[in-house]
Amino acid sequence: MGRQLHVIGNWKMNHDVQSCTDFWSELDGEDMPTTVAAGIAAPAPLLSDSLHKCPFSTKIYGQNCHQALSGAYTGETSAALLQSLGCAGVVLGHSERRQYFNESDALIHDKINTATSQNLQAVYCCGESLEQRKAGEHKSFVRSQIENSLFGLEPAQLQQLIIAYEPIWAIGTGETASAAQAEEMCAEIRQIMASKFGQGAADDLIILYGGSVKPSNAHEIFSQENVDGGLVGGASLKAESFVTLLRIAEELMSA
Ligand code: 13P
Repeated sequence: MGRQLHVIGNWKMNHDVQSCTDFWSELDGEDMPTTVAAGIAAPAPLLSDSLHKCPFSTKIYGQNCHQALSGAYTGETSAALLQSLGCAGVVLGHSERRQYFNESDALIHDKINTATSQNLQAVYCCGESLEQRKAGEHKSFVRSQIENSLFGLEPAQLQQLIIAYEPIWAIGTGETASAAQAEEMCAEIRQIMASKFGQGAADDLIILYGGSVKPSNAHEIFSQENVDGGLVGGASLKAESFVTLLRIAEELMSA
């Protein structure tokens, strides 16, 4: 059986109690696809509400967790808390966390270990800047991110890992990587993982593309061989476009 397509929305620091409630009530009347893995990464204060209001088949993810399981870390969220709430996983290493909160590859590695120790899926993000892409360094840069954050994992942890390739220049800019660029990098990432963990493990890995995915480009991107769906920012904020993305993935799963 082929890999399941995933559509995971990342709300980032958007939505409030009312708009979150509206989102889930709009989804309530929808026939949710069963063949596609659907998820939303919500801001921490909206996790509980989302877990109560989301359709049964939709997984809820945190957007970050601390590397320690508990302690005096004011303002932080622990992986144990996410797990106890009922979250399926957590997004880690997003470029916005790397850029604005100085998260290093080594720190992200520690966070993945903590998250998986709590039976959470880790949605690990990587991707190059525009300067690196222009200099032709995108492959070597992403390789170094993966080597530093993922090569120290135990093979069994790969079962709880999703990788999202998110080129920074395509995030929130409206400028999407072409389907060919997304495919090239997701294939490259699969090969990098195969070189360390073996082809079989790499073939089973879910690798997503993220960066200005929207209903108008999702079909082409999701139909690439090594792209197993999307990590979606802006287009996941409205229930209507999120559902449209799920329908596109559903159609591809049945093709
Ligand atoms: P956009 O879809 O808004 O470009 O955001 C992508 C992203 O960063 C998802 O994590």
